[in-house]
Amino acid sequence: MELLKQYNRSLEEHLENAVAVREPEQLYDPIKYILTLGGKRLRPVLTLLSCDFFGEDYLKAMNAALAVELFHNFSLIHDDIMDNAPLRRGKETVHEKWDLNTGILSGDAMLILAYRFFEGYEPMLFRELAKLFSKTAIEVCEGQQYDVDFERRDDVTIEEYIKMIDYKTAVLIGAAMKMGAIVAGATESCKDSIYEFGRNLGIAFQLQDDYLDAFGNPDTFGKQVGGDIIANKKTFLYLTALERSESSEAAELKHLFSISPKDPSEKVNIVKRIFENSGAVDATEKEIASYTDKANTVLDQIQISEERKENLREFGTWLMRRKV
Ligand code: IPE
Ligand code: IPE
Ligand code: MG
Ligand code: MG
Ligand code: MG
Repeated sequence: MELLKQYNRSLEEHLENAVAVREPEQLYDPIKYILTLGGKRLRPVLTLLSCDFFGEDYLKAMNAALAVELFHNFSLIHDDIMDNAPLRRGKETVHEKWDLNTGILSGDAMLILAYRFFEGYEPMLFRELAKLFSKTAIEVCEGQQYDVDFERRDDVTIEEYIKMIDYKTAVLIGAAMKMGAIVAGATESCKDSIYEFGRNLGIAFQLQDDYLDAFGNPDTFGKQVGGDIIANKKTFLYLTALERSESSEAAELKHLFSISPKDPSEKVNIVKRIFENSGAVDATEKEIASYTDKANTVLDQIQISEERKENLREFGTWLMRRKV
């Protein structure tokens, strides 16, 4: 999409300014590092798209878009510490390249830098954006805590899992879109609808993330393949595989998710085989399509021309098929 390329170029320029050289280097270098490693820029692009969708110049939403991307990158630095992840966007994670303390403090600084971007808006807008941002940020923390708690639980339900990914991932995608609508001065009902659209897309997005974590191509995925299995993450794949397996295989799966072997390669291979044979992979694909459909149904209800909706639908379809 030509529009997306334009948004991406514009975002990169603004991000570069946001990370102009500063001291102390130990604090700012990791920030520059993570931001220049790239990433899909999905959330800020959605903020800009949504602003344009509701009829306002996308540049007006740039500060909100930058805030969302900085917050996202902050959450990745801390998430990689919590998940003990070695790789991010094909490179060493911040806490591996530097150390734990650097990851914590540079992450904290990014969160604060994120808030600062809202200072560019007049008081009424500032208040509305900051309020949504704070609500979302605390939900992300709650989601991350559930995610970690679930590693040690063996009775997690699919309903609990969906709530967890809704909080850790989907609400930020919903909020990113709602911010675009807020800046554009959309009606309350439009703001709520675009939030729900983003949120449903966000759930599909995290389901796909979990799928790729196990089955992505190690050469292009950019993260450690099998990381969720190694960390005993209770993903949709795991939960549906448990439901759909014969009792002996289910018992094996449960056992494998209660241990942390030094060399995890055999565990990862067995688990992936069970995910496939049990039908959990197919079920995940269906679930992704179902949440994408839900998102599109919400979009249908917004009173805006079909032509404008097409950009958003296309984006959803692209997300569903992504490989990284
Ligand atoms: C990774 O998000 C964290 C999740 C919520 C799954 P992305 O897959 O959007 O990461 P980047 O920004 O493109 O690297
Ligand atoms: C991350 O979920 C959600 C947040 C960063 C808040 P994951 O732990 O699945 O993300 P990746 O796979 O490391 O990118
Ligand atoms: Mg992670
Ligand atoms: Mg995580
Ligand atoms: Mg993941």
